[in-house]
Amino acid sequence: MNTTISGFSKLSKSEKIDWIIATHFNNDSSAKTTLTQYWNSDEKLQKLHDEFIENTVSNYYLPFAVAPNFKINGKSYTIPMAIEESSVVAAASKAAKFWLNRGGFKAEILGTTKIGQVHFMYYGNAEELTNFFNTVKPKLLEDTKSITKNMEKRGGGILDIELRDKTQNINGYYQLHATFETLDAMGANFINSCLEQFAKTFKNEAENTLNDSVSVVMSILSNYVPECLVRAEVSCPVVDLSDDPSIDSKEFAEKFIQAVNIAEIEPYRAVTHNKGVMNGIDAVILATGNDFRAVEAGVHAYASKDGIYSSLTHASIENDIFKFWIEIPLALGTVGGLTSLHPLVKLALEMLYKPTAKELMQIVAVAGLAQNFAALRSLTTTGIQQGHMKMHIMNILNQFEANEAEKKLVLEQFKDQAISHSAVVEAIEKLRIKN
Ligand code: HMG
Repeated sequence: MNTTISGFSKLSKSEKIDWIIATHFNNDSSAKTTLTQYWNSDEKLQKLHDEFIENTVSNYYLPFAVAPNFKINGKSYTIPMAIEESSVVAAASKAAKFWLNRGGFKAEILGTTKIGQVHFMYYGNAEELTNFFNTVKPKLLEDTKSITKNMEKRGGGILDIELRDKTQNINGYYQLHATFETLDAMGANFINSCLEQFAKTFKNEAENTLNDSVSVVMSILSNYVPECLVRAEVSCPVVDLSDDPSIDSKEFAEKFIQAVNIAEIEPYRAVTHNKGVMNGIDAVILATGNDFRAVEAGVHAYASKDGIYSSLTHASIENDIFKFWIEIPLALGTVGGLTSLHPLVKLALEMLYKPTAKELMQIVAVAGLAQNFAALRSLTTTGIQQGHMKMHIMNILNQFEANEAEKKLVLEQFKDQAISHSAVVEAIEKLRIKN
Protein backbone atom coordinates (compact mmCIF):
# COMPACT_ATOMS: atom_id res chain seq x y z
CA MET A 1 0.00 0.00 0.00
CA ASN A 2 1.40 3.39 -1.01
CA THR A 3 1.03 5.74 1.92
CA THR A 4 2.80 8.73 0.42
CA ILE A 5 0.83 11.55 -1.14
CA SER A 6 1.46 14.94 -2.69
CA GLY A 7 -1.08 17.70 -2.17
CA PHE A 8 -2.58 16.21 1.01
CA SER A 9 -2.82 19.66 2.59
CA LYS A 10 -5.08 20.82 -0.25
CA LEU A 11 -7.68 18.07 0.32
CA SER A 12 -10.86 18.82 2.26
CA LYS A 13 -11.19 17.45 5.78
CA SER A 14 -13.42 14.59 4.67
CA GLU A 15 -11.10 13.78 1.75
CA LYS A 16 -8.20 13.64 4.18
CA ILE A 17 -10.12 11.24 6.39
CA ASP A 18 -11.09 9.07 3.42
CA TRP A 19 -7.45 8.90 2.36
CA ILE A 20 -6.33 7.89 5.89
CA ILE A 21 -9.04 5.24 6.16
CA ALA A 22 -8.22 3.80 2.73
CA THR A 23 -4.45 3.78 3.17
CA HIS A 24 -4.06 2.91 6.86
CA PHE A 25 -7.26 1.12 7.89
CA ASN A 26 -8.21 -0.96 4.86
CA ASN A 27 -11.37 1.18 4.47
CA ASP A 28 -12.62 0.05 7.87
CA SER A 29 -15.49 2.40 8.69
CA SER A 30 -15.00 2.01 12.46
CA ALA A 31 -11.74 3.97 12.20
CA LYS A 32 -13.71 6.78 10.55
CA THR A 33 -16.27 6.61 13.37
CA THR A 34 -13.48 6.93 15.94
CA LEU A 35 -12.25 10.08 14.25
CA THR A 36 -15.63 11.69 13.68
CA GLN A 37 -17.19 10.86 17.06
CA TYR A 38 -14.99 13.49 18.65
CA TRP A 39 -16.19 16.24 16.35
CA ASN A 40 -18.14 18.94 18.09
CA SER A 41 -21.79 19.22 17.09
CA ASP A 42 -21.42 23.00 17.17
CA GLU A 43 -19.98 23.55 13.69
CA LYS A 44 -18.55 26.96 14.50
CA LEU A 45 -16.70 25.58 17.53
CA GLN A 46 -15.44 22.65 15.49
CA LYS A 47 -14.17 24.96 12.76
CA LEU A 48 -12.32 26.98 15.38
CA HIS A 49 -10.53 23.83 16.52
CA ASP A 50 -9.92 22.68 12.95
CA GLU A 51 -8.16 25.94 12.27
CA PHE A 52 -5.86 25.94 15.32
CA ILE A 53 -3.48 23.65 13.41
CA GLU A 54 -3.11 22.10 9.97
CA ASN A 55 -4.48 18.86 8.50
CA THR A 56 -6.94 18.55 11.41
CA VAL A 57 -9.10 15.45 11.22
CA SER A 58 -10.46 15.16 14.76
CA ASN A 59 -10.21 16.55 18.29
CA TYR A 60 -7.91 14.94 20.85
CA TYR A 61 -9.57 15.14 24.23
CA LEU A 62 -7.68 15.53 27.47
CA PRO A 63 -9.51 15.65 30.79
CA PHE A 64 -9.91 19.19 32.09
CA ALA A 65 -9.96 19.14 35.90
CA VAL A 66 -9.63 21.54 38.80
CA ALA A 67 -7.59 21.44 41.99
CA PRO A 68 -9.27 23.52 44.72
CA ASN A 69 -8.01 25.02 47.99
CA PHE A 70 -4.85 26.74 46.80
CA LYS A 71 -3.92 29.80 48.85
CA ILE A 72 -1.28 31.89 47.11
CA ASN A 73 -0.05 35.13 48.68
CA GLY A 74 -3.21 35.11 50.78
CA LYS A 75 -5.59 34.73 47.81
CA SER A 76 -7.69 31.61 47.19
CA TYR A 77 -7.46 29.84 43.85
CA THR A 78 -9.06 26.86 42.18
CA ILE A 79 -6.44 25.78 39.65
CA PRO A 80 -7.49 24.32 36.28
CA MET A 81 -5.42 21.38 35.05
CA ALA A 82 -5.46 19.50 31.73
CA ILE A 83 -3.64 16.17 31.97
CA GLU A 84 -4.10 12.50 31.12
CA GLU A 85 -2.32 10.97 34.13
CA SER A 86 -4.32 9.75 37.11
CA SER A 87 -3.43 10.93 40.62
CA VAL A 88 -1.85 14.24 39.51
CA VAL A 89 -4.93 16.35 40.21
CA ALA A 90 -5.68 14.46 43.43
CA ALA A 91 -2.09 14.97 44.56
CA ALA A 92 -2.16 18.71 43.79
CA SER A 93 -5.49 19.05 45.58
CA LYS A 94 -4.24 17.16 48.60
CA ALA A 95 -1.11 19.31 48.83
CA ALA A 96 -3.17 22.50 48.43
CA LYS A 97 -5.48 21.44 51.25
CA PHE A 98 -2.53 20.49 53.45
CA TRP A 99 -0.84 23.90 53.06
CA LEU A 100 -4.10 25.85 53.28
CA ASN A 101 -3.98 25.63 57.07
CA ARG A 102 -0.26 26.25 57.26
CA GLY A 103 -0.15 29.74 55.73
CA GLY A 104 -0.57 28.69 52.11
CA PHE A 105 1.96 29.29 49.34
CA LYS A 106 4.05 32.43 48.95
CA ALA A 107 5.23 33.35 45.48
CA GLU A 108 7.32 36.16 44.03
CA ILE A 109 8.55 37.17 40.61
CA LEU A 110 12.35 37.38 40.39
CA GLY A 111 12.48 38.66 36.81
CA THR A 112 10.53 38.89 33.55
CA THR A 113 13.26 39.42 30.97
CA LYS A 114 13.04 37.41 27.75
CA ILE A 115 15.80 36.83 25.25
CA GLY A 116 16.22 36.65 21.48
CA GLN A 117 19.26 36.39 19.25
CA VAL A 118 20.37 37.14 15.72
CA HIS A 119 23.07 34.59 14.92
CA PHE A 120 25.50 35.71 12.25
CA MET A 121 28.89 35.02 10.73
CA TYR A 122 31.59 37.64 10.18
CA TYR A 123 35.23 36.89 9.41
CA GLY A 124 36.62 40.44 9.38
CA ASN A 125 38.24 42.62 12.03
CA ALA A 126 36.52 42.23 15.43
CA GLU A 127 37.20 45.77 16.58
CA GLU A 128 35.74 47.16 13.38
CA LEU A 129 32.61 45.07 14.01
CA THR A 130 32.29 46.36 17.59
CA ASN A 131 32.60 49.97 16.43
CA PHE A 132 30.06 49.33 13.70
CA PHE A 133 27.64 47.75 16.19
CA ASN A 134 27.89 50.73 18.53
CA THR A 135 27.15 53.09 15.65
CA VAL A 136 24.28 51.07 14.23
CA LYS A 137 22.57 50.20 17.56
CA PRO A 138 20.32 53.30 17.66
CA LYS A 139 19.18 52.52 14.10
CA LEU A 140 18.40 48.92 15.07
CA LEU A 141 16.05 50.31 17.73
CA GLU A 142 14.69 53.03 15.43
CA ASP A 143 13.83 50.58 12.64
CA THR A 144 11.72 48.42 14.99
CA LYS A 145 9.59 51.37 16.17
CA SER A 146 6.52 50.27 14.23
CA ILE A 147 6.73 46.82 15.87
CA THR A 148 7.46 48.06 19.40
CA LYS A 149 5.09 51.07 19.45
CA ASN A 150 2.15 49.33 21.17
CA MET A 151 4.29 47.25 23.51
CA GLU A 152 6.11 50.41 24.59
CA LYS A 153 2.80 52.18 25.25
CA ARG A 154 1.96 49.39 27.69
CA GLY A 155 5.36 49.70 29.38
CA GLY A 156 7.34 46.95 27.64
CA GLY A 157 9.60 46.67 24.60
CA ILE A 158 13.24 46.09 23.81
CA LEU A 159 15.46 46.37 26.87
CA ASP A 160 18.89 46.14 25.28
CA ILE A 161 20.93 44.72 22.41
CA GLU A 162 24.47 43.45 22.89
CA LEU A 163 27.03 42.22 20.42
CA ARG A 164 28.39 38.87 21.59
CA ASP A 165 31.60 37.40 20.25
CA LYS A 166 31.31 33.61 20.02
CA THR A 167 34.36 33.07 17.84
CA GLN A 168 36.03 31.02 20.59
CA ASN A 169 33.35 28.38 19.96
CA ILE A 170 32.81 28.68 16.20
CA ASN A 171 35.10 30.59 13.83
CA GLY A 172 33.34 33.77 12.67
CA TYR A 173 30.26 33.33 14.90
CA TYR A 174 28.72 36.41 16.55
CA GLN A 175 25.32 37.27 18.01
CA LEU A 176 23.08 40.22 18.50
CA HIS A 177 21.82 39.21 21.93
CA ALA A 178 18.66 41.16 22.72
CA THR A 179 16.55 41.34 25.87
CA PHE A 180 12.83 42.12 25.97
CA GLU A 181 9.98 42.91 28.33
CA THR A 182 6.77 41.53 26.85
CA LEU A 183 4.43 42.07 29.84
CA ASP A 184 1.35 39.82 29.60
CA ALA A 185 2.25 38.36 26.22
CA MET A 186 4.48 35.31 25.94
CA GLY A 187 6.00 37.49 23.25
CA ALA A 188 7.31 34.98 20.71
CA ASN A 189 5.88 36.82 17.68
CA PHE A 190 6.89 40.21 19.03
CA ILE A 191 10.44 39.10 19.75
CA ASN A 192 10.88 37.26 16.46
CA SER A 193 9.57 40.24 14.47
CA CYS A 194 12.00 42.57 16.25
CA LEU A 195 14.89 40.16 15.67
CA GLU A 196 14.14 39.79 11.96
CA GLN A 197 14.12 43.56 11.64
CA PHE A 198 17.42 43.83 13.55
CA ALA A 199 18.91 41.29 11.14
CA LYS A 200 17.71 43.19 8.08
CA THR A 201 18.97 46.57 9.30
CA PHE A 202 22.24 45.13 10.57
CA LYS A 203 23.02 43.39 7.30
CA ASN A 204 22.04 46.38 5.14
CA GLU A 205 24.08 48.82 7.18
CA ALA A 206 27.02 46.41 7.29
CA GLU A 207 27.04 46.25 3.50
CA ASN A 208 27.54 50.03 3.32
CA THR A 209 30.01 50.29 6.21
CA LEU A 210 32.09 47.19 6.83
CA ASN A 211 34.92 45.90 4.64
CA ASP A 212 33.82 42.29 5.21
CA SER A 213 30.32 40.96 4.83
CA VAL A 214 27.88 39.84 7.51
CA SER A 215 25.98 36.64 6.83
CA VAL A 216 22.87 36.19 8.98
CA VAL A 217 22.27 32.54 9.90
CA MET A 218 18.97 32.99 11.77
CA SER A 219 16.96 35.24 14.05
CA ILE A 220 14.95 33.61 16.82
CA LEU A 221 13.87 34.01 20.42
CA SER A 222 15.41 31.78 23.06
CA ASN A 223 13.21 29.50 25.14
CA TYR A 224 15.96 29.55 27.75
CA VAL A 225 14.77 32.36 30.00
CA PRO A 226 16.81 32.22 33.24
CA GLU A 227 15.90 35.86 33.92
CA CYS A 228 12.16 35.26 33.57
CA LEU A 229 12.06 33.62 36.93
CA VAL A 230 9.55 32.91 39.67
CA ARG A 231 9.98 31.55 43.18
CA ALA A 232 7.30 29.82 45.24
CA GLU A 233 7.62 28.60 48.79
CA VAL A 234 5.85 26.88 51.67
CA SER A 235 7.02 26.69 55.26
CA CYS A 236 5.81 25.58 58.66
CA PRO A 237 7.18 24.45 62.02
CA VAL A 238 8.61 20.94 61.68
CA VAL A 239 6.15 19.67 64.32
CA ASP A 240 3.23 20.62 62.06
CA LEU A 241 4.49 18.72 59.05
CA SER A 242 2.46 15.60 59.55
CA ASP A 243 -1.32 15.41 59.68
CA ASP A 244 -1.21 11.64 59.95
CA PRO A 245 -0.71 10.08 63.41
CA SER A 246 1.23 7.20 61.87
CA ILE A 247 3.84 9.62 60.43
CA ASP A 248 6.27 11.36 62.78
CA SER A 249 6.74 15.00 61.71
CA LYS A 250 10.47 15.22 62.47
CA GLU A 251 11.30 11.92 60.80
CA PHE A 252 9.20 12.89 57.78
CA ALA A 253 10.87 16.33 57.52
CA GLU A 254 14.32 14.77 57.62
CA LYS A 255 13.50 12.11 55.04
CA PHE A 256 11.88 14.73 52.82
CA ILE A 257 15.05 16.84 52.92
CA GLN A 258 17.15 13.78 52.15
CA ALA A 259 14.93 13.05 49.14
CA VAL A 260 15.41 16.61 47.86
CA ASN A 261 19.15 16.48 48.52
CA ILE A 262 19.41 13.29 46.49
CA ALA A 263 17.59 14.97 43.57
CA GLU A 264 20.01 17.91 43.85
CA ILE A 265 23.09 15.77 43.21
CA GLU A 266 21.88 12.65 41.36
CA PRO A 267 20.69 13.28 37.77
CA TYR A 268 18.89 9.90 37.51
CA ARG A 269 16.72 10.90 40.44
CA ALA A 270 16.57 14.61 39.48
CA VAL A 271 14.93 13.84 36.13
CA THR A 272 12.11 11.86 37.77
CA HIS A 273 11.82 14.38 40.59
CA ASN A 274 11.45 17.19 38.05
CA LYS A 275 9.02 15.09 36.00
CA GLY A 276 6.84 15.14 39.10
CA VAL A 277 7.19 18.94 39.26
CA MET A 278 6.25 19.16 35.58
CA ASN A 279 3.11 17.08 36.19
CA GLY A 280 1.71 20.16 37.89
CA ILE A 281 3.36 22.78 35.69
CA ASP A 282 2.38 21.29 32.32
CA ALA A 283 -1.19 20.60 33.39
CA VAL A 284 -1.79 24.27 34.25
CA ILE A 285 0.14 25.46 31.21
CA LEU A 286 -2.03 23.32 28.93
CA ALA A 287 -5.25 24.40 30.63
CA THR A 288 -4.29 28.06 30.22
CA GLY A 289 -3.31 27.70 26.56
CA ASN A 290 0.41 28.21 27.00
CA ASP A 291 3.29 26.53 25.18
CA PHE A 292 4.40 23.56 27.28
CA ARG A 293 7.19 22.61 24.87
CA ALA A 294 8.82 26.00 25.32
CA VAL A 295 8.46 25.79 29.09
CA GLU A 296 9.74 22.20 29.26
CA ALA A 297 12.84 23.04 27.16
CA GLY A 298 13.60 26.15 29.23
CA VAL A 299 12.99 24.51 32.58
CA HIS A 300 15.27 21.54 31.94
CA ALA A 301 18.02 23.81 30.63
CA TYR A 302 17.67 25.80 33.86
CA ALA A 303 17.87 22.59 35.89
CA SER A 304 21.29 22.03 34.27
CA LYS A 305 22.59 25.57 34.64
CA ASP A 306 25.34 24.61 37.13
CA GLY A 307 26.76 21.91 34.87
CA ILE A 308 24.81 18.99 36.35
CA TYR A 309 21.10 18.24 35.90
CA SER A 310 19.60 18.97 39.30
CA SER A 311 16.40 19.41 41.27
CA LEU A 312 14.15 22.40 40.57
CA THR A 313 12.99 22.36 44.20
CA HIS A 314 14.94 22.75 47.42
CA ALA A 315 14.21 22.22 51.09
CA SER A 316 15.72 23.16 54.44
CA ILE A 317 15.14 22.97 58.17
CA GLU A 318 16.34 26.00 60.09
CA ASN A 319 15.35 26.82 63.66
CA ASP A 320 12.80 24.00 63.55
CA ILE A 321 11.10 25.55 60.54
CA PHE A 322 10.65 23.38 57.47
CA LYS A 323 10.93 25.29 54.21
CA PHE A 324 10.33 23.96 50.69
CA TRP A 325 10.71 26.07 47.58
CA ILE A 326 11.01 26.14 43.81
CA GLU A 327 12.77 28.56 41.49
CA ILE A 328 11.73 28.12 37.91
CA PRO A 329 11.92 30.05 34.63
CA LEU A 330 8.48 30.46 33.04
CA ALA A 331 7.75 32.57 29.96
CA LEU A 332 3.96 32.65 29.93
CA GLY A 333 1.24 34.71 28.34
CA THR A 334 -2.25 35.63 29.41
CA VAL A 335 -3.02 37.54 26.22
CA GLY A 336 -2.50 36.47 22.60
CA GLY A 337 -2.14 32.93 21.29
CA LEU A 338 -5.00 30.64 22.30
CA THR A 339 -5.90 32.69 25.38
CA SER A 340 -8.86 34.47 23.82
CA LEU A 341 -9.67 31.80 21.23
CA HIS A 342 -10.09 28.47 22.99
CA PRO A 343 -13.28 28.56 25.08
CA LEU A 344 -11.84 26.32 27.81
CA VAL A 345 -8.65 28.34 28.00
CA LYS A 346 -10.74 31.49 28.39
CA LEU A 347 -12.73 29.82 31.13
CA ALA A 348 -9.55 28.61 32.86
CA LEU A 349 -8.13 32.13 32.90
CA GLU A 350 -11.41 33.53 34.17
CA MET A 351 -11.38 30.96 36.96
CA LEU A 352 -7.94 32.32 37.89
CA TYR A 353 -9.41 35.87 37.97
CA LYS A 354 -7.90 36.78 34.57
CA PRO A 355 -4.31 36.84 35.85
CA THR A 356 -1.47 38.93 34.54
CA ALA A 357 1.44 36.92 33.16
CA LYS A 358 3.27 37.53 36.44
CA GLU A 359 0.34 36.14 38.45
CA LEU A 360 0.09 33.14 36.16
CA MET A 361 3.83 32.50 36.62
CA GLN A 362 3.23 32.39 40.38
CA ILE A 363 0.22 30.08 40.08
CA VAL A 364 2.06 27.68 37.77
CA ALA A 365 5.15 27.59 40.01
CA VAL A 366 2.92 26.83 42.98
CA ALA A 367 1.23 23.98 41.09
CA GLY A 368 4.69 22.50 40.42
CA LEU A 369 5.76 22.85 44.04
CA ALA A 370 2.50 21.35 45.34
CA GLN A 371 2.83 18.41 42.97
CA ASN A 372 6.40 17.75 44.05
CA PHE A 373 5.41 17.99 47.72
CA ALA A 374 2.65 15.40 47.25
CA ALA A 375 4.90 13.02 45.33
CA LEU A 376 7.76 13.32 47.84
CA ARG A 377 5.41 12.85 50.75
CA SER A 378 4.13 9.62 49.22
CA LEU A 379 7.59 8.46 48.16
CA THR A 380 9.10 8.98 51.62
CA THR A 381 6.17 7.54 53.57
CA THR A 382 3.75 5.05 52.00
CA GLY A 383 5.52 4.67 48.63
CA ILE A 384 4.03 6.09 45.44
CA GLN A 385 2.01 3.07 44.34
CA GLN A 386 -0.58 3.15 47.10
CA GLY A 387 -2.05 6.56 46.23
CA HIS A 388 -1.31 6.40 42.52
CA MET A 389 -2.98 3.01 42.07
CA LYS A 390 -5.93 4.15 44.18
CA MET A 391 -6.56 6.76 41.49
CA HIS A 392 -5.47 4.59 38.55
CA ILE A 393 -7.75 1.65 39.39
CA MET A 394 -10.58 3.20 37.36
CA ASN A 395 -8.41 3.09 34.22
CA ILE A 396 -7.78 -0.63 34.73
CA LEU A 397 -11.51 -1.22 35.21
CA ASN A 398 -12.30 0.75 32.07
CA GLN A 399 -9.62 -1.08 30.12
CA PHE A 400 -11.47 -4.32 30.93
CA GLU A 401 -14.82 -2.66 30.16
CA ALA A 402 -16.11 -3.30 33.66
CA ASN A 403 -19.76 -2.34 34.10
CA GLU A 404 -20.96 -0.13 36.95
CA ALA A 405 -21.82 -3.10 39.22
CA GLU A 406 -18.41 -4.69 38.64
CA LYS A 407 -16.67 -1.37 39.30
CA LYS A 408 -18.51 -0.98 42.59
CA LEU A 409 -17.60 -4.47 43.78
CA VAL A 410 -13.94 -4.21 42.77
CA LEU A 411 -13.54 -0.74 44.32
CA GLU A 412 -15.07 -2.06 47.54
CA GLN A 413 -12.70 -5.04 47.55
CA PHE A 414 -9.61 -2.81 47.09
CA LYS A 415 -10.56 -0.29 49.75
CA ASP A 416 -8.25 -2.01 52.23
CA GLN A 417 -6.15 -4.09 49.89
CA ALA A 418 -2.94 -3.19 48.01
CA ILE A 419 -3.78 -2.28 44.41
CA SER A 420 -1.73 -3.65 41.55
CA HIS A 421 -2.65 -4.11 37.90
CA SER A 422 -2.58 -7.91 38.14
CA ALA A 423 -4.58 -8.01 41.38
CA VAL A 424 -7.34 -5.86 39.85
CA VAL A 425 -7.42 -7.95 36.66
CA GLU A 426 -7.64 -11.10 38.77
CA ALA A 427 -10.53 -9.63 40.76
CA ILE A 428 -12.46 -8.76 37.57
CA GLU A 429 -11.86 -12.23 36.16
CA LYS A 430 -13.01 -13.89 39.39
CA LEU A 431 -16.18 -11.80 39.42
CA ARG A 432 -16.97 -12.75 35.84
CA ILE A 433 -16.42 -16.45 36.48
CA LYS A 434 -18.80 -16.24 39.48
CA ASN A 435 -21.49 -14.61 37.34
P1 HMG B 1 -5.23 9.98 50.11
O1 HMG B 1 -4.66 10.43 51.39
O2 HMG B 1 -5.53 8.53 49.93
O3 HMG B 1 -6.53 10.81 49.78
O4 HMG B 1 -4.25 10.46 48.96
P2 HMG B 1 -7.84 11.00 50.64
O5 HMG B 1 -8.85 10.12 50.05
O6 HMG B 1 -7.54 10.92 52.11
O7 HMG B 1 -8.20 12.53 50.30
C1 HMG B 1 -7.39 13.60 50.77
C2 HMG B 1 -7.41 14.71 49.74
O8 HMG B 1 -6.66 14.30 48.58
C3 HMG B 1 -8.78 15.08 49.23
O9 HMG B 1 -9.44 15.99 50.06
C4 HMG B 1 -8.44 15.70 47.89
O10 HMG B 1 -7.91 16.99 48.06
C5 HMG B 1 -7.33 14.77 47.39
P3 HMG B 1 -11.08 16.15 49.96
O11 HMG B 1 -11.41 16.49 48.53
O12 HMG B 1 -11.62 14.81 50.36
O13 HMG B 1 -11.36 17.25 50.88
N1 HMG B 1 -7.95 13.62 46.70
C6 HMG B 1 -8.66 13.71 45.54
N2 HMG B 1 -8.97 14.73 44.76
C7 HMG B 1 -9.72 14.47 43.64
N3 HMG B 1 -10.13 13.24 43.30
C8 HMG B 1 -9.82 12.18 44.06
C9 HMG B 1 -9.07 12.39 45.23
N4 HMG B 1 -8.60 11.56 46.19
C10 HMG B 1 -7.94 12.33 47.06
N5 HMG B 1 -10.24 10.98 43.69
C11 HMG B 1 -3.38 10.79 46.79
C12 HMG B 1 -4.36 10.01 47.65
C13 HMG B 1 -3.35 10.20 45.41
C14 HMG B 1 -3.81 12.25 46.72
C15 HMG B 1 -1.97 10.74 47.48
O14 HMG B 1 -1.61 9.40 47.67
C16 HMG B 1 -0.90 11.43 46.71
O15 HMG B 1 -0.74 12.62 46.77
N6 HMG B 1 -0.05 10.67 45.97
C17 HMG B 1 0.94 11.20 45.09
C18 HMG B 1 0.48 10.95 43.71
C19 HMG B 1 1.38 11.55 42.64
O16 HMG B 1 2.36 12.19 42.89
N7 HMG B 1 1.00 11.31 41.40
C20 HMG B 1 1.70 11.77 40.25
C21 HMG B 1 1.91 10.61 39.33
S1 HMG B 1 3.30 9.68 39.86
C22 HMG B 1 4.55 10.47 38.98
O17 HMG B 1 4.46 10.57 37.81
C23 HMG B 1 5.62 11.29 39.61
C24 HMG B 1 6.71 10.69 40.44
O18 HMG B 1 7.49 9.74 39.76
C25 HMG B 1 7.56 11.88 40.76
C26 HMG B 1 8.69 11.59 41.68
O19 HMG B 1 9.27 10.48 41.61
O20 HMG B 1 9.06 12.53 42.43
C27 HMG B 1 6.14 10.07 41.65
